[in-house]
Amino acid sequence: MLKVGFIGWRGMVGSVLMDRMKAENDFQGFDPLFASTSQVGQNGPDIGREIPPLADAFDIVTLSGMDIIVTCQGSGYTNKVLPELKASGWNGYWIDAASALRMTDDSVIVLDPVNRHVIDKALSEGVRNFIGGNCTVSLMLMAVGGLFQQGYIEWLTSMTYQAASGAGAKNMRELVSQMASIGNATAALISNPASAIHEIDREVINTMTGEEFQVAHFGAPLAGSLIPWIDSAMESGQTREEWKGFAETNKILHTRAPIPIDGICVRIGAMRCHSQALTIKLNKDLPLEKIIDLIGSANEWVKVVPNTKEDSLRDLTPAAVTGKLIVPVGRIRKLNMGPEYITMFTVGDQLLWGAAEPIRRMLKILLAYLG
Ligand code: HSE
Repeated sequence: MLKVGFIGWRGMVGSVLMDRMKAENDFQGFDPLFASTSQVGQNGPDIGREIPPLADAFDIVTLSGMDIIVTCQGSGYTNKVLPELKASGWNGYWIDAASALRMTDDSVIVLDPVNRHVIDKALSEGVRNFIGGNCTVSLMLMAVGGLFQQGYIEWLTSMTYQAASGAGAKNMRELVSQMASIGNATAALISNPASAIHEIDREVINTMTGEEFQVAHFGAPLAGSLIPWIDSAMESGQTREEWKGFAETNKILHTRAPIPIDGICVRIGAMRCHSQALTIKLNKDLPLEKIIDLIGSANEWVKVVPNTKEDSLRDLTPAAVTGKLIVPVGRIRKLNMGPEYITMFTVGDQLLWGAAEPIRRMLKILLAYLG
């Protein structure tokens, strides 16, 4: 029986992965071993079957007994452990949610509803490293993969509205604590129907700019505001998050001539759904009905939302999509710039298709391939 080691299963992405694997009855047909960087010997997660106590996630001898390693532990772990494992002669499969290996020549970025052909070719060529993509990129491709697959996209620009979860669990807590501070500071004024709106507004901004307002993780207020900067600066003037749009999309699709992709990535006060407004230049004047059909038929999770207020408010918001695998795409229309210019808005759960789901599915693909 194939042996699969899991590392980083307790963190935010890892625990969503565990939940999804349990929901899909995935813990079958292989021997799982759970390892930990801090709780060696303790009990592992409840997966509905007996499992050994937690192994040491830094023990190269134990890890080298695995056929497949699935890690959501982060890039620091990958950069430390994988070279040691390889040096020990290990030649197993490494499935990783972290970004460390995404752009290396010997890895494939996995998003099988979009690039199954790239994954299959890589398996047949002996590739061993299968890496989850950036959440914004994966969600964009789940939404408009149909247009990419048919070769209709000349260029794409994405303006993002990214959730706190993309920055980590501590950031999610900070967002809620900021919301609570604003709520507490204005509670008396809000409950008094006679209070003036400018008083409420002043109390909100005084709270947000006050010394006690918690900004340790975001570096600025997010609740009641936004932050037009995600990740580190690149020499190009892009942020690293913006740079990934071009680099990762073209790698996922294995494009021969890279498709220009760029935009501005913005953090907003949503909890775990990333949204994006896309502007696309098609290389052909396609009828809107055909565009909608290509988008909606690309995979079983993308869902076209009619361009009405009622449908958009009901189905095209982070509140509507959180915890769901569907990827709605709405507001689809042609732009004034010309018949090849289209726009649309899409929302996706950053922890599902943006992180855990491609990893879960890659494990299944690999088990089937090796089995
Ligand atoms: N880097 C993304 C963000 C999340 O900050 O929202 C992970 O892909």
